[in-house]
Parts: sequence; C-alpha cells; structure tokens
Amino acid sequence: MPIAIAPGRVNLIGDHTDYQGGFCLPMAIDRAVNVAFDARDDARVVVHSEAGGEQIVAAVVEVLAERGRPAIGLDARVTSTLPIASGLSSSAAFEVAIALACAEVANFDLAGRELALAAQQAEHRATGVPCGVMDQMACALGVAGHALLLDCRSLNVTPVAIPRDAILTVAHSGLPRRLADSEYASRRAACEAAAARLGVHSLRDATPAQVADDPIARHVVSENARVLRFAEALPARDLTAAGALMLESHASLRDDFQVSTPELDELVNLAMEQGALGARLTGAGFGGCIVALSVRPLDLPNSFVATATDGARVIAKET
Ligand code: GLA
Repeated sequence: MPIAIAPGRVNLIGDHTDYQGGFCLPMAIDRAVNVAFDARDDARVVVHSEAGGEQIVAAVVEVLAERGRPAIGLDARVTSTLPIASGLSSSAAFEVAIALACAEVANFDLAGRELALAAQQAEHRATGVPCGVMDQMACALGVAGHALLLDCRSLNVTPVAIPRDAILTVAHSGLPRRLADSEYASRRAACEAAAARLGVHSLRDATPAQVADDPIARHVVSENARVLRFAEALPARDLTAAGALMLESHASLRDDFQVSTPELDELVNLAMEQGALGARLTGAGFGGCIVALSVRPLDLPNSFVATATDGARVIAKET
C-alpha cells in the first residue's frame, strides 16, 4: 500500500501575519500524519482514523471534486506521530495527507501551492475557522534542513538554511488550544478592521507610524519586520540575533496581540534560564507549544527536538 506522509510544522517566527498578507517562517517537522491507502472500485472515500476527522475528509473530497478530481474512491488508514491540538498543525497535515491520497488514486495532479490552497479551503469549510495559509504551505512545501520564508501575499516561498548547530526544541504548555477558534477569528477581524480604518488592503501595507497606537495592528507590522530580519540572521549563523528576535516576537504576541498564556510565558522563561538564545509561543497561541532556539540541549517538560523535513509526499510501501 502506498502511504501519503504529511508533516506537521513549527513556526520559528511570524505569527498572526499570514492572514494579513504578511511574512512567516515555519518549517515542516519530522512528525507527521501518515495515510496508507488503496483505490476502491467505487467512488467512496473510506477513512479509518482513531482521531475522527470525518468532516475534514468530506470537505477535502468536495474541494478536490470542484477542482476536477475524478471520483475514484479509496480505503485509507490514518496513523500519526504528530500530537493533536498542540498547535503543530495536525489538522493541516491531516487535510494535506488525505488530499494527496485522493489525488494519487485518481492520477490527479495536485502539488505544492495548489495542494496547500485546497487543504486550506477544506479547513475553512470543515471547521469555519478563518485560518491563513501558513500551516498548509509549510506542510506541502517543506524543505529538509530549511525553514521557509513565506510571503503570504504572493505565496512566494524561499527556503532559509538552518545552521547545523541550531537546536530547535518544541515544548507543549499542557494546555489544549481552548477558546482558540473564537479568539482566532476575533483577532483576525480586529486586524481587518484596523486595515480598513487605515485605508490599506491589509496590515502588510501599514507603516509602524500608522499603527503606533493600535496594539493589535502594531504586532502585525512589527512581526513582519522581525521575520525579515530573522530570515537574514539565521543563514548568516547569527543565532544571538535570531534568538533576540524570537523573544521580541513572544513579547509582542503576549503584550500587543494578547494570545499568550501564563503557561506559555513560563515555558519561555524556563528555556531562557536554561541558556536558550530565544524562545516564543508558536502558532495561534492560547495554549499549544513554544519553540526555543539553543546551541546546547534544553531540558524542558513535554518537549522534543524538531528537525526540518521535506514536505508532503507519497511513498510506495510493500504490504
Ligand atoms: C494558526 C493558523 C495559521 C496562522 C497561525 C498564527 O496556526 O492556522 O494560518 O494564522 O495560527 O500565525
């Protein structure tokens, strides 16, 4: 049986910027949703998954049909090494893996950006959460050994080499992302309102001076600038500068954008006490994980060292 493998992601910097046409810098990680699949003789898509996800499967099938996928069914079995509801994009990985399996059985060409956009559309439809495109792009387009500088307006992707001595530790706060969906939507709406007030298409186009008195918009504008500086510091091996930017990002997400929690703040502090160069919450916030940058191993609770991997793919496996 072939297997569709779709990795989760950790975002190194640039949160709550993607849906404002901004920049972010995620990497696909070595934890993934795996979907073993086989074509069926009818058009049914039968997915065995312990974690549920029926609505997402239905939405993926619908979105692909609209894009012209021939209705060829499949039997699929889902396994995962990616923790669920941790802010590591398990749902994006699930969408992408199912989409890839559906495409493969039908000999339907779907890759890269198109795969990411289809998965994002399925997420919107199945969950109603108006997510940006970062998670699905990272999952679909990851490059081993690299983070991806994403321009979420042009959907341009620039791989950014991660120095070999950089250790990226992901630690879970112990909190599922409760309230995340409604808070996420309200932050996004606040950004859109700020952009409308300023008369710009999105906050990507706002200047620091324009948003000086609006903490929500200020976060987005300052975060975009940090992403671009980070994307220069990282390949230049300036890990001290990169770490400092991560800390600034965390402070901005905590104080201006207000999506941190005391548990996330504490984990960031713990990482710094242990000698990390920088640390920040990663993803939407309201629980989930932090990511820390260090050159020596850290000893954080509920943590693992993440390695940057290639994006989603299908491998042939003997049964
Ligand atoms: C979630 C969304 C992404 C992005 C992040 C915050 O992960 O799915 O599109 O907006 O939150 O950066």
